[in-house]
Amino acid sequence: MNLKDQSKIQDVAIIMDGNGRWAKNRSRPRIWGHVRGASVVSKIAESASDLELNSLTLYAFSTENFSRPDQEVNFLFKLLDKFLIKEKQKILKNNIHFRVIGKFDFLSEKTLRKVRELEDLTKDNTGLKLRFAFGYGGRAEIVEACNTLISKNLKASEENISKHLYDEIINIDLLIRTGGDQRISNFLLWQSAYAELFFTNTFWPDFSSQEFQDILSQVSTRERRFGGIHTSSETEFQKENQTHL
Ligand code: IPE
Ligand code: IPE
Ligand code: MG
Repeated sequence: MNLKDQSKIQDVAIIMDGNGRWAKNRSRPRIWGHVRGASVVSKIAESASDLELNSLTLYAFSTENFSRPDQEVNFLFKLLDKFLIKEKQKILKNNIHFRVIGKFDFLSEKTLRKVRELEDLTKDNTGLKLRFAFGYGGRAEIVEACNTLISKNLKASEENISKHLYDEIINIDLLIRTGGDQRISNFLLWQSAYAELFFTNTFWPDFSSQEFQDILSQVSTRERRFGGIHTSSETEFQKENQTHL
């Protein structure tokens, strides 16, 4: 597995969960939670940019979310459209490289055009790589990559699969999930192979830049061993085991 040689947290992904329960606690409709949740996205992206992370991948709509009532699904599509209009200038100003990942060909022409336009306008930007996972499923992504390999007559290898995923970010350092549940829900299955996991009970609309920074500093103290042993243990190991080897 081709993992980075340094353990610094550079590539972060977030499962933005808990919008519905946040609204329910306030006796408001679920879509109100989505509206409030959308406003948090911009704040966290800005923090990620200020903190000079390499990338931030946000889970906005999963392949499984199609099973929700049509009205909610349509509302979430509309929110994406609004986000693209509202955040365009900020994304450009902050030198952000923006992309949407997933199978989102179900989006309206109008929204797709906005997605493509913003991707194109930001393609040479050198700042934060901001990814929106929309209509995204981790298994579907791997299956698509494998099918592309078959059609190109290439063999399946870690390198070849990695090269044919939706995006170039193939190692996530930290995967955060808000909303209290402790599961991956089909997000970045390949990319999270060695990710640090962090689960917070905070519902997404209450998630703040402060909590984001606290999580980053907490996780950065974790020792990431990537299957090895701690470097100081290596000399100890030599000493302790010399006679047995
Ligand atoms: C996450 O919040 C947003 C999406 C999945 C689109 P939810 O809508 O899943 O909120 P809860 O989990 O029901 O509270
Ligand atoms: C995961 O949240 C998907 C997104 C945040 C977009 P869900 O609310 O859909 O996850 P499950 O169904 O509880 O696992
Ligand atoms: Mg949920």
